[in-house]
Amino acid sequence: MRTIALYSIKGGVGKTTAAVNLADAAARSGTRVLLWDLDAQGAATYCFRIRPHVAGGVRDLVRGSDGLERHVRATDRTGIDLVPADVTLRHLDLHLDRTKKPTRRIHRLLEPLRERYDLVVLDCPPGVTLATESVFAATDVLVVPTVPSTLSRRTLTQLTDLLDELVGRLPGGDGSGHPRMPAVWPFVSMLDRRRSLHHAVVAELIEHVPALLPTPVPTASVVERIGVERAPLAAYAPRHPATAAFDELWAEIARRLWLPPPAAATR
Ligand SMILES: Nc1ncnc2c1ncn2[C@@H]1O[C@H](COP(=O)(O)OP(=O)(O)OP(=O)(O)O)[C@@H](O)[C@H]1O
Ligand SMILES: [Mg+2]
Repeated sequence: MRTIALYSIKGGVGKTTAAVNLADAAARSGTRVLLWDLDAQGAATYCFRIRPHVAGGVRDLVRGSDGLERHVRATDRTGIDLVPADVTLRHLDLHLDRTKKPTRRIHRLLEPLRERYDLVVLDCPPGVTLATESVFAATDVLVVPTVPSTLSRRTLTQLTDLLDELVGRLPGGDGSGHPRMPAVWPFVSMLDRRRSLHHAVVAELIEHVPALLPTPVPTASVVERIGVERAPLAAYAPRHPATAAFDELWAEIARRLWLPPPAAATR
């Protein structure tokens, strides 16, 4: 089982859109996917037409000794199960903080599902919280949607600085006792090829970020319709270039995740 998190310090950059469409691309290529909606907004939950309800509330979710199992729901997309969010997730930090090792908690909750899924996709809220650190410790890769603007680019640097700062503090996750941090694989989100600033930021990313995923996702109104259709792009716009972009992004992520040696794909 591999775990990727759609994560950015910045809000509104396309995390949920990518979580929904990458999960769907993965499932269509035969991967058994669990999508965990960690955002109290519940946008990914909504897109898959699942009731926004965390059984027993977030306290139960965090403390449950039986892991995540009882929170898993089947979606109407073959190969995708989902752990829904509801508004109680706004208290996630509070309940994590009451556990023994809060930063290891998400990892521990996922552990019993290791044989059941090939891929876990975490749809994260923006910001940096205790839950963020728990996501970092549970995740192989942070897939970071980066809008080609100076401010969005800046948060990517802030993220790598943050990981460098945390690396000395996280407990080892691979049994070796060495601190383990996720790789950072950004991709260009909401690209508008008519805008010269977009070209400049993308050129800078290509030059300075070797782990950049090479396929940009274009700005397109069809992508915004996800919330109306309540389905991944492939369900209602299978031949649109944005759908193809997410499929290509997934192919590259899968190649990096599973091609030995996994350590070759670094940040
Ligand atoms: N490629 C795209 N083209 C056009 N609109 C897009 C594209 N990607 C995302 N959007 C729109 O941008 C908005 C933000 O997208 P999304 O909700 O995926 O971002 P997010 O990072 O998950 O936001 P949040 O930080 O609030 O969780 C949404 O209205 C979405 O429909
Ligand atoms: Mg979101």
